[in-house]
Amino acid sequence: MKSFKVAVLAGDGIGPEVMTEALRVLETVGKKFALNFAFTEKRVGGAAIDADGKALPDDTLQACREADAILFGSVGGPKWESLPPNEQPERAALLPLRKHFGLFANLRPAVCFAELTHASPVRTDIVAGGFDVLCVRELTGGLYFGQPKFTREENGDTVVVDTMVYKKSEIERIAHVAFRAAQGRRKKLTSIDKANVLENGVLWRKTVTAIAKQYPGVELSHLYVDNAAMQLIKNPKAFDVVLAENLFGDILSDEMAMIAGSLGMLPSASLGVKETPLGRFGMYEPSGGTAPDIAGKGIANPIAQILSAAMMLRHSFGENDAASAIDAAVRNVIAAGYRTGDIFTEGTKRVNTREMGDAILGALG
Ligand code: IPM
Ligand code: MG
Repeated sequence: MKSFKVAVLAGDGIGPEVMTEALRVLETVGKKFALNFAFTEKRVGGAAIDADGKALPDDTLQACREADAILFGSVGGPKWESLPPNEQPERAALLPLRKHFGLFANLRPAVCFAELTHASPVRTDIVAGGFDVLCVRELTGGLYFGQPKFTREENGDTVVVDTMVYKKSEIERIAHVAFRAAQGRRKKLTSIDKANVLENGVLWRKTVTAIAKQYPGVELSHLYVDNAAMQLIKNPKAFDVVLAENLFGDILSDEMAMIAGSLGMLPSASLGVKETPLGRFGMYEPSGGTAPDIAGKGIANPIAQILSAAMMLRHSFGENDAASAIDAAVRNVIAAGYRTGDIFTEGTKRVNTREMGDAILGALG
């Protein structure tokens, strides 16, 4: 029996409801594949602000340090929106976690299931048959963390500065992650930059091009970020892996999530620097937010959280069979017509959060 320690940070809004289903799924695959999970549940985000006075309490961080991986729900909501920006749950919990654990590699699959193309706002003929794009976003560099960063009064005016900084080594390590991902997929990598304007973009393009020599099986192309925003919506099926720096990846991964249809279906992984024989330390979370409008009603789609747990099995624990079993169970319940409200259409079976969890447990056998 293999044992894994998981820090469980459900957070706010629908976080706790969907997390409950993900933990049930993990327990069930654990029995099937002889894996034991020790879950340590801790507060984060708005819930932690209310109870402990800050979004990322020390004992939550400590539990993450002691864990093999972090399973994260979502944070934020209207109740905390009037706090100063750097005390808000999103900035005061997510960004420090990323920085603290060096989670530089953010994998955001944007998968549109063939059965769910109706949920996409994009014209049916463009998404017909579904698509599968993987966004690889650099997560600890660029404008988010570059110094200096300040707001100050100067000669009767207000001046703000954010600084875009990348080291070549940071570009190289995220490029390796993207090339390796492409090797395991359809072997196409599109690297995004703004090399026509930014020094950052010039180095980005040069570095990714150099790394490509180590991956002769992968076809590399480059797009300026503005053009990429257009091409992704014009023909998402033409893309396999998309590699971008932090801010461009933030924006393009949201665009891809919207084109895919339901945020409730999309997981994500944020992986750290340290590689063990089993994988990398990582934090796993749904791409969507806390959905305050439906929180507490038990109707949210738990699939993004459940697929995030599958990504944890694959990328941090090296348990590919157990991860694939979860992916397959999700595909099966979608094929069988189970739908939460966000993906419902006439003629399918409308279910709530718990019933979707039950259906996936059933499909796991
Ligand atoms: C994301 C979010 C965060 C980001 C915010 C909440 C800080 O948009 O994970 O994409 O910008 O990275
Ligand atoms: Mg974002």
